[in-house]
Amino acid sequence: MSLTTCTIHVTQRQERVIYLTSELARTLKLAKAKSVSLQMGSKTASTGFKLLKKTGNHLYVPLSVMSQLRIPHLGSCTIMCTNGKDIRLGPLIGILTSVSSSGSAPFGSRTEFIRQFMKVGTGKSFYFGFSPRDVNWAQSTVTGTFPRKEGGWFRKTVPLPDVVYNRLPSRKAEKLPSMNAFKQRFIKRGIPLFNWAFFDKWDIYNLLEGTDAFKHVPESHINPSSAQIKEMLERHKFIYLKPTGGSLGIGIYRLTYNPKRGYYARFRRAGKNVLLRFSKFESLMALLNRSNGRLNHYVAQQGIRLIEIDNCPIDFRFHLTKNINNQWVVAGIGAKKAGKGSVTTHVRTGGQLMTPDQVLRQIFGARADQVLASAKDTAIKLAESIENNGKHTLGELGFDIGIDQNEKIWMFEANSKPGRSIFKHPALKGEGKAALQYIYDYCLYLSRFRARRDT
Ligand SMILES: Nc1ncnc2c1ncn2[C@@H]1O[C@H](COP(=O)(O)OP(=O)(O)O)[C@@H](O)[C@H]1O
Ligand SMILES: [Mg+2]
Repeated sequence: MSLTTCTIHVTQRQERVIYLTSELARTLKLAKAKSVSLQMGSKTASTGFKLLKKTGNHLYVPLSVMSQLRIPHLGSCTIMCTNGKDIRLGPLIGILTSVSSSGSAPFGSRTEFIRQFMKVGTGKSFYFGFSPRDVNWAQSTVTGTFPRKEGGWFRKTVPLPDVVYNRLPSRKAEKLPSMNAFKQRFIKRGIPLFNWAFFDKWDIYNLLEGTDAFKHVPESHINPSSAQIKEMLERHKFIYLKPTGGSLGIGIYRLTYNPKRGYYARFRRAGKNVLLRFSKFESLMALLNRSNGRLNHYVAQQGIRLIEIDNCPIDFRFHLTKNINNQWVVAGIGAKKAGKGSVTTHVRTGGQLMTPDQVLRQIFGARADQVLASAKDTAIKLAESIENNGKHTLGELGFDIGIDQNEKIWMFEANSKPGRSIFKHPALKGEGKAALQYIYDYCLYLSRFRARRDT
């Protein structure tokens, strides 16, 4: 297999022949045949081919073939040839998300976020964003939103992509049966789609049960009854109540039990941290509005005594991605110190972003590196276990990881569509770039756009 980048030009000639510079033909190890097949995403065209005595990697395509293959734009991309006659141009990478009609911000508030992914592929691939309604299954096409080099965006109808990166932003929309069927259609056509859907906290707990990595997950119960909550509080002294489909710390309660003083509930209400004390368990349950029933769609989780700085708990976001060899890597780690009185470490509730080095040195001194290395190992094991027990292709994970006061490592939450907020820290910008590069590389792996050493 041979692979390189080339520049695509259009030729005005009428005949159905593509022209390759001899240098390009040599690199691709093209056989001396009269015709080749040229593939772009899901479309293929067979054409004659001729050599041009010119240096550099250039490809000249007649208009008829340009429009048959729906090549998104001229310029450079990756070109590869597997067997001397089948040429692929691309990769054509589709980011599945929601698309608004606004010209300057087609992906709404996520426009910059999406553009960051696309930038990595500039000059080497075709990246576009699309929403479910942009796909035309009958024609095997999709109307994608592409970044313009000079800024701004344009829409163009292209073949179905080589790979789909799922960044649909709405949990609710993603849960609809129609969305499941939509995503399944890509798989049926042999188009890999990664990061299938948002995770629920409870699903992840179930996925990991029985694996070696399960010891890193705090004890959890779905839809806990009052009796279960009471019993957990007696055993663990404090617990977390979290909506199973929640995020951003919304709806979370931290409950504490002190045999002498009673029950405490910490939570956030109207933008403020609240701490309430109850002498009776029943009054605490009344606050949760569940004096007799179960707390539905909630997970009750054993509380973990996290390491602290200035009496504020600290946890970590581990951002993991797959690499070009389909292996998990820890692309970046951010440390998060909780705001005073806050139940969670989110920046929106007063949390502060730090580097893991800053935190671990202060707490573990010379052993900081060792603790970090062991947490990284654990994160990789967790990722492998989730992937092996899950049904779908996974390329990226954001773990909320805690280290307790005995140095034990815990995983509170796995996010299948992690944000990039940790990479705003000036010291983590390089890791942010690396994470984007890994996602691109993983797209190359999934779309088989890479030169394999073993072939
Ligand atoms: N069992 C727990 N013990 C101690 N702290 C926890 C526990 N569960 C969650 N937290 C804290 O709350 C934060 C938010 O919890 P998480 O499960 O990530 O929910 P969300 O989806 O809202 O982000 C965590 O990052 C951690 O700081
Ligand atoms: Mg979280």
